[in-house]
Amino acid sequence: MDYFNYRDGVLYAEDVPLSRIADEHGTPCYVYSKATFERHFRAYTEALGSHPHLICYAVKANSNLAVLGLLAKLGAGFDIVSIGELERVLKAGGDPAKVVFSGVAKQAHEMARALDVGIKCFNVESRPELERLNRVAGEQGKIAPVSLRVNPDVDAGTHPYISTGLKDNKFGIPVDEALAVYELAASLPNLRVKGLDCHIGSQLTETAPFLDALDRLLMLMERLRERGIEIDHLDLGGGLGVPYRDEKPPQPFDYASQLLSRLSRWEGGEALTLLFEPGRSIAANAGVMLTRVEFLKPGESKNFAIVDAAMNDLIRPALYQAWQAIVPVDTREMRASALYDVVGPVCETGDFLGKERELAIAEGDLLAVRSAGAYGFVMASNYNSRPRAAELMVDGDSCHVVRARETVANLWAGEALLPEGRH
Ligand code: LLP
Repeated sequence: MDYFNYRDGVLYAEDVPLSRIADEHGTPCYVYSKATFERHFRAYTEALGSHPHLICYAVKANSNLAVLGLLAKLGAGFDIVSIGELERVLKAGGDPAKVVFSGVAKQAHEMARALDVGIKCFNVESRPELERLNRVAGEQGKIAPVSLRVNPDVDAGTHPYISTGLKDNKFGIPVDEALAVYELAASLPNLRVKGLDCHIGSQLTETAPFLDALDRLLMLMERLRERGIEIDHLDLGGGLGVPYRDEKPPQPFDYASQLLSRLSRWEGGEALTLLFEPGRSIAANAGVMLTRVEFLKPGESKNFAIVDAAMNDLIRPALYQAWQAIVPVDTREMRASALYDVVGPVCETGDFLGKERELAIAEGDLLAVRSAGAYGFVMASNYNSRPRAAELMVDGDSCHVVRARETVANLWAGEALLPEGRH
């Protein structure tokens, strides 16, 4: 559930009409709802109740400082994949002791900084990474807390680009090798084994793959136990899907209760701390992208609605053929309805936000692309020298600019002409 609703024919973010936001701040822009972020985060904490847990929001989904600051205040931990994400979390007031560090290619300087600030755990994805972490920790006289990211080889049944738990994916340590790699981890002097981790994919709409993964991880934990390696926490990654169209993904409550019931049958399950790394299920439906219709271009075989947002602003439709709802912001005027491809100004045929959408619109109208709070702005680029959009956060009846629109001069910040006089 989110807080973007129509009132008297106009779409609102909480108590603010989106048309007012577009008039005051221009388009394209991203508009987030604070209450929706809070609600989605609480859905997880309430679902887990008194079971020991930590919700580490996946920063990659939406890394705006206001979003991170808001979640930090609610007690969130964070799942990061780069030094940049770590510094964002710290800047936003996040607690480093609640940070887990994922990613297949952590560099020595990133490990050093994370050790310095005292993160909760490194989710290690390979043997050479373990060895590098052991060396970096040794140089600092520190003991690095580690989990191994195990690839349980389950099919998440999602888009191939965002499925990560299969044997053929670059992620994690194959489950059959995990025992040996844990033994290596336990033998290295500057590491301490803390957890077991997996992340099988994103936009999952069923609980079965998660439960399969859990079963495989519990089997592995049995075997680790036999070898005297105890695990304090189990990190099940992110991946819970959201309704973009007619998907009916499980709610955090269903997901958590199924996991907890499976875990209760396992010896020591009640005491095992569960970590989750949700991104999309917290952020996606907490945001929309606003765009204005520049031109309507009727054609013989297709009608185009050319809008002022493009694939550089929101790349999901172009990259994954992702479907996101596109709705008019103001429905009060009667307009003729037609089927449109909603396309942007970028010079590529793949630059579309939606295809074959039934819309009753005219030039100058505002459209909202829904479910744009996750993997929206964070994946934006300056392609075609387009300044990146503004980001706004609505809180009740106020609207705050949480990232100013880039200016044209921002586009070449850091660039330089070649020195004069050399040919
Ligand atoms: N943990 C790890 C290790 C991950 O790789 C990811 C996402 C997450 C957590 C968060 O997953 P979520 O709860 O958001 O599903 N750009 C794509 C999604 C890429 C997801 C990458 N990893 C999209 O727009 O659909």
